[in-house]
Amino acid sequence: MKTKVGVLSSGGDCAGINSTIHWLVFSALDKDLVSRRGTMFEILGIVDGWKGLIEVRPDKKESLKRWTIPLKTDVVRTWARSGGTRLGTTRINPFDPANDKSEDLIKNYKKLGLDALVVIGGTDSLAVTYKLYKEGLKVIGIPKTIDRDLSDTDYTLGFDSAVNIITSDIDRLRVTAGSHSRVFVVECMGRKAGWLALEAGEASGVPIILIPEHDFVIDRVIELLKSRKRTFERYSIVLVSEGAKPRGMEEILEKRGRDGFGHYYLGGVGGFIAEEIQKHTNMEVRYVALRHLQRGGAPTAYDRRMGRKFGVAAIDMIVNEDFGRMVSLQHGDITSVPLKKAIDRLHLVDVEKFYNTKDYKTLDQIL
Ligand code: F6P
Repeated sequence: MKTKVGVLSSGGDCAGINSTIHWLVFSALDKDLVSRRGTMFEILGIVDGWKGLIEVRPDKKESLKRWTIPLKTDVVRTWARSGGTRLGTTRINPFDPANDKSEDLIKNYKKLGLDALVVIGGTDSLAVTYKLYKEGLKVIGIPKTIDRDLSDTDYTLGFDSAVNIITSDIDRLRVTAGSHSRVFVVECMGRKAGWLALEAGEASGVPIILIPEHDFVIDRVIELLKSRKRTFERYSIVLVSEGAKPRGMEEILEKRGRDGFGHYYLGGVGGFIAEEIQKHTNMEVRYVALRHLQRGGAPTAYDRRMGRKFGVAAIDMIVNEDFGRMVSLQHGDITSVPLKKAIDRLHLVDVEKFYNTKDYKTLDQIL
């Protein structure tokens, strides 16, 4: 018996995706496991996420070459250590009411002869995966987003690498901030959840952290900076999530409009804060938005390990026919949860437990 599995990455890229694919393929094609599993595997990589599965013409050789990659161990041999996604990704919603392509996608799944599909994605992509499950496709989800805002899993791929990047960028900024005795406002990602700011802020010991879960008062930020000046601190760093809001205002949006799922692109809150500080104090201020630097580079050891565990788990789930579920890390164990549960609500920072709303920093609790 042979089981043909499609795999794709969808939504924002991040470190750890390639490691997942690497180990998914190595586990699936492990000859020693064939008799125990009662099946052999064939793995087909889908290029550019949902777009590939919509665009591919399975009866046309050229189209197959453009939109799919047969994944063998020699193809993915070096993937585990590289960042981003070698399969490519897009932010396309196949169920977009204005341009619904779900029928084409489902037809192609069947024409490609897929027995199962593994989707490495965040909330939006896994919501699509769940809809496909309801349409009868055999799907498995793998959690991935640097925001770490998916529910029912303690980890989503890419988060640790992003936290490390933010931390080392702040180390660099400390040098120049200290030389000039300046305030630096550093904007990191995190649309609805402040985990990146909170954990990178904690790791790098920045004095002021602003997160989407708690609207900040700009006067309070300025007061905190002034009191640092009074105690002769040479410089200060304010770390702010892109989704953090000044009290009484909405999120600050980029001019780029919306993504395929209707979400506005965020960006600029750091600039707003920097201007306000500049206007109301005599401090010298600079603003740095880390933006996509946070998603680049090689995966940390942790993301490589989690990618490995998630990839292997996905194949085990296919063997056990655990479809409609997402691989999940819970209290150190790899398990799985229904996709529906994972996408139903976002995993946000519990402000009472982790955040000091008076001084805008972490509460000294273990996260
Ligand atoms: O994937 C989540 C995320 O990294 C958010 O933190 C950020 O707002 C968004 O993606 C950026 O998306 P894009 O790569 O499409 O600009």
